[in-house]
Amino acid sequence: MLNNFIFIVLPYAALALIIFVTPYRYFSNRLTWSAYSTQFLERKTLFWGANPWHYGIIPVLAAHLLGVIFPGPMKAFLGNEFNLLVFESIGLALGLFAVFGCLILTLRRVNTPLLKRVTFASDWVLLYLLLAQSLTGVYVATFMRWGSQWYLHTAVPYLWSLLTFNPQIEYVTDFPLVFKLHAAGAFVIVALLPFTKLVHMLYLPFDFLKDPPILYRWRTK
Ligand code: HEM
Repeated sequence: MLNNFIFIVLPYAALALIIFVTPYRYFSNRLTWSAYSTQFLERKTLFWGANPWHYGIIPVLAAHLLGVIFPGPMKAFLGNEFNLLVFESIGLALGLFAVFGCLILTLRRVNTPLLKRVTFASDWVLLYLLLAQSLTGVYVATFMRWGSQWYLHTAVPYLWSLLTFNPQIEYVTDFPLVFKLHAAGAFVIVALLPFTKLVHMLYLPFDFLKDPPILYRWRTK
């Protein structure tokens, strides 16, 4: 029952929401299609949070995707012990870097009163979810060795079975709870993506390079 919910209901609900709500948000309210900058309110801690977070999580997510898109070549590559060790060590370092960044970003919001006013419920939910997601990821990588290898033989065929609308959850139902939490967390994050500032992930900000500088003015006398 719980397995069906985590591995069938959640991913398809997330897929439906991202397919139908995202275009609605794009066409109905383009102005909120960004990560609502707070850099002008606080910039020092932001630097130590946003940089490690993005430089850590983007390659880790790219590695997740690489496994899904090229399972064959990845199996061959990680079949070599040296490659596996290097790949996993770099992955773990990047995962820890992301956890560090996300922790700093969360503490920044908690400890800066000015920021609390512009932090909405959806921001808190997202921050805590991303933190939990990175922590469960690092836990799996550390205590369920060698994840990058078994992922290709279990989670990847399961994800493909979802994409071909023939869910085969037997690939993943015997995993420990922490893996299930990690998968469920991913689907919840994807489901929330079109409703939160995380939607900025879908927009590569190359146009910013052409934009004129933005002038901020205080509204006080
Ligand atoms: C929002 C989506 C996701 C995020 C942000 C995320 C984040 C992470 C992070 C930060 C790590 C630690 C990387 C490391 O230390 O090596 C990790 C590892 C892992 N994740 Fe995810 N993940 C996501 C989705 C998923 C999904 C959908 C699955 C499979 C169903 C999955 C399976 C794994 C596995 C097996 C590992 C361990 C890899 C290893 O041992 O090297 N993740 N994830």
